[in-house]
Amino acid sequence: MKMQIHVVDHPLIKEKMTRLRDKNTQPKDFRQLLDQIAQLLLFEVTRDLPVRHKKVTTPLAETTGYELDVSGITVVPILRAGLGFLDAVMDLVPEAKVGHIGLTRDEETLQPIKYYCKMPKDKDAEIILIDPMLATGGSAEAAITMLKQDGYKHFRFMCLVAAPEGVALVNRSHPEVPIYTAALDDHLNENGYIVPGLGDAGDRVFGTLE
Ligand code: PRP
Ligand code: URA
Repeated sequence: MKMQIHVVDHPLIKEKMTRLRDKNTQPKDFRQLLDQIAQLLLFEVTRDLPVRHKKVTTPLAETTGYELDVSGITVVPILRAGLGFLDAVMDLVPEAKVGHIGLTRDEETLQPIKYYCKMPKDKDAEIILIDPMLATGGSAEAAITMLKQDGYKHFRFMCLVAAPEGVALVNRSHPEVPIYTAALDDHLNENGYIVPGLGDAGDRVFGTLE
């Protein structure tokens, strides 16, 4: 089956991703780059959202403008690393609601373990799941499955780096969910890390590296 993935191919993203991947980039700069890439990605992730006409009066004339119904959007960071994306996304869609899902990978089995979930009630919302890394795909797959079981219906997934293994799992389990990424990398190593990747995203965002 052909992989279904939108790789947002843009010189600004490529250049910022290169600095982000660099192991010498410090958490402060890492977070700033993450914010910038998140906003560039969101441009593509939201491209097909509907707009309504709205009148606007400029200093010269009245004209037709547009408004986005962002109240129908729920942004859902997968904790912990997904929080690194949240502020930048909310800057662009400030009326969106926010849900939180806490998942962490068991270091040995690589299976996701759920430890938190708090979602807004609107089951018809367009859910934008955000998590920097799509590695085995277990976390993304589990998050979408969990939300579907609770009655949520519309999803799109945004990440920084995806591995082919993770894309394949999400495509197989949730073929209708579009995946947007800044980079599609080569493979997973024996510890389930994306190669070349950028290491542990949560540790790099929050400065918890040993
Ligand atoms: C990272 C990342 C994803 C997950 C991806 O989180 O933020 O949620 O790994 O891996 P997967 O596709 O194989 O499931 P991690 O479990 O390291 O937790 P953290 O965000 O708390 O550091
Ligand atoms: N989680 C990360 O933070 N990085 C990877 O490469 C894989 C999973």
